[in-house]
Amino acid sequence: MGKKGRILSGHRPTGLLHIGHYEGTLRNWAALQDDYDCFFFIADWHALTTSYDQTELLPERIEQMAIDWMAAGLDPERSTLFVQSSVPEHAELYLLLGMVTPVSWLERCPTYKDQIANLRDVDGAGAGFGLLGYPVLMASDIIMYKANVVPVGEDQLPHLEFTREIVRRFNNLFGEIFPEPDALLSEFALVPGIDGRKMSKSYDNAINLADSLDEVAKKMKSMFTDPEKLRMGDPGHPDICPVFTYHRMYNTDPARLDEIKVECEAGSLGCVKCKMEATERLVEALGPIMQRRAELAGNLDYVHEVLREGAAKAGAIAEETMREVRAALSLTSV
Ligand code: TRP
Repeated sequence: MGKKGRILSGHRPTGLLHIGHYEGTLRNWAALQDDYDCFFFIADWHALTTSYDQTELLPERIEQMAIDWMAAGLDPERSTLFVQSSVPEHAELYLLLGMVTPVSWLERCPTYKDQIANLRDVDGAGAGFGLLGYPVLMASDIIMYKANVVPVGEDQLPHLEFTREIVRRFNNLFGEIFPEPDALLSEFALVPGIDGRKMSKSYDNAINLADSLDEVAKKMKSMFTDPEKLRMGDPGHPDICPVFTYHRMYNTDPARLDEIKVECEAGSLGCVKCKMEATERLVEALGPIMQRRAELAGNLDYVHEVLREGAAKAGAIAEETMREVRAALSLTSV
């Protein structure tokens, strides 16, 4: 076990990851591998809570997410990378936790209320039982590995609180089996997309880790800039310009950064040149990840092998935990 305990986190397979995901989540996960025993998994069952009509998208999304993760530095030699549905014990624990979960706890979960309010109602039947049970499944994912720390974004905090409550209830009823996990909030990284809004797949403004260098250059070229700086010579406002945010993220030379700011404000630095320089810095910083990604994408057998080995490692621990749980609930007749 790692020096500081065990980490588990996961993500629904929602599609290609972009540099906002990298800066906000993956970079952080990769760094945690130095100090913790890490489990990272792709939550395909969770994806089904809202997208059960799109199951045919799952295999490719899972594969591509695994590639993004490994390219970003999640290292199968040090961490266990797996797919939720390949460890069916999660479903068994979910079922048993469901027996002791008050429905009222689930109904008052803010993420559930939010989901219901914005539900993409597939066939007019309303929200499914699986959506109500989302936090129960998530608790199962976490406590199956007796994780101590769960790195998540702020939106997941209610689920972590739910997990802690259900652990207390379970332990009171059946004995001290599970530790209460702590959330580790990832540092907030607001990466602007090419239209200046927050980078998001749904805004179609993202630079993906899977983009080729040509695509990256093209997107950077079309990035919005200070709307008041229309032509060369107009003074700019770097603090409201998304391109300058990229300089701040990827230009490691503070003196050059100051220069850019001064030259932009004076109107002597044109946006085209400024964007080209930002692109160069971005490619220097993330090029190796994009390169590694391309290599992995050409070696799918290896990617699947990693996920199979991860499932075996995770499955062995899950089986141990379930033996303890079955015994605690007297489910030992046969
Ligand atoms: N709900 C998380 C998300 O949407 C994914 C997830 C499922 C998860 N199970 C988890 C995250 C367990 C951390 C721990 O991003």
